[in-house]
Amino acid sequence: MASSPPENTLLNRLDRSALPRHLAVIMDGNGRWAKSKGWRRVRGHEEGAESVRVVVRTCRKLGIRALTLYAFSEENWARPKAEIEALMRLLGRFLKSERQEMMDRGIRLMASGSIERLPKGTRQLLGQIMADTAGGEHMVLNLALSYGGRQELVRAARRLAARAAAGELPPEQIDEAALEGELYTKGLPQVDLLIRTSGELRVSNFLLWQIAYAEFYFTDTYWPDFREEELAKALLAYANRERRFGQTGEQVKGEID
Ligand code: IPE
Ligand code: IPE
Ligand code: MG
Repeated sequence: MASSPPENTLLNRLDRSALPRHLAVIMDGNGRWAKSKGWRRVRGHEEGAESVRVVVRTCRKLGIRALTLYAFSEENWARPKAEIEALMRLLGRFLKSERQEMMDRGIRLMASGSIERLPKGTRQLLGQIMADTAGGEHMVLNLALSYGGRQELVRAARRLAARAAAGELPPEQIDEAALEGELYTKGLPQVDLLIRTSGELRVSNFLLWQIAYAEFYFTDTYWPDFREEELAKALLAYANRERRFGQTGEQVKGEID
């Protein structure tokens, strides 16, 4: 009987030159994963944290420069208090356990979102680890926490308006770069690939500006089951996309000018 291929086969087949520079992931399906096994939702979040570890490690190994993970949305504040508390506890545990590895592997931690809404202890821990990893030059791990794309754009508009009102920024100088400079993701490349797990086909207020030309990859796999092999599948699919940016296929292939 044919045995299944070793786990890293797909990863090894990846063309390193065709990897996304910035990968963003909507990590969805923790609750349904747990429910399908008759367990509490929190168990799904716990197992999902393990997927986060695997995906961060694999991206670092592959040389992906930026990874943004949707960990908690502005809208998620509407969940039951006990679930929110469990998520915050898990986040704290994750940050503590990954601190050393991030430092050793040159991973810079960043956070995007209304961080001021997070519990004080979580905020302090985040601040500390962002400072500890500030010198990381190989990869940025950007955690979207209490994040909403519309809220981010409103915030950017407000900051631009304040600079304009103060006479620092003439309105005619407000261009794409100026707006981008006021986003949480300032300095990161545009998102090349957006992955959403769990079969949902929506963006849920994630990185609305940054995904303007992203390739989308949807999978039915629940986040706790999304490990190395699943990531490799998504990256392989991405490598086979033709990104046209408005041009014709012939132009992109260099057949005509
Ligand atoms: C994603 O899993 C994690 C967060 C949104 C924090 P869900 O908790 O949304 O899982 P489902 O969608 O209910 O299965
Ligand atoms: C999006 O997932 C937010 C995160 C993954 C953190 P949700 O499960 O909250 O999204 P909706 O509500 O189903 O759109
Ligand atoms: Mg969900």
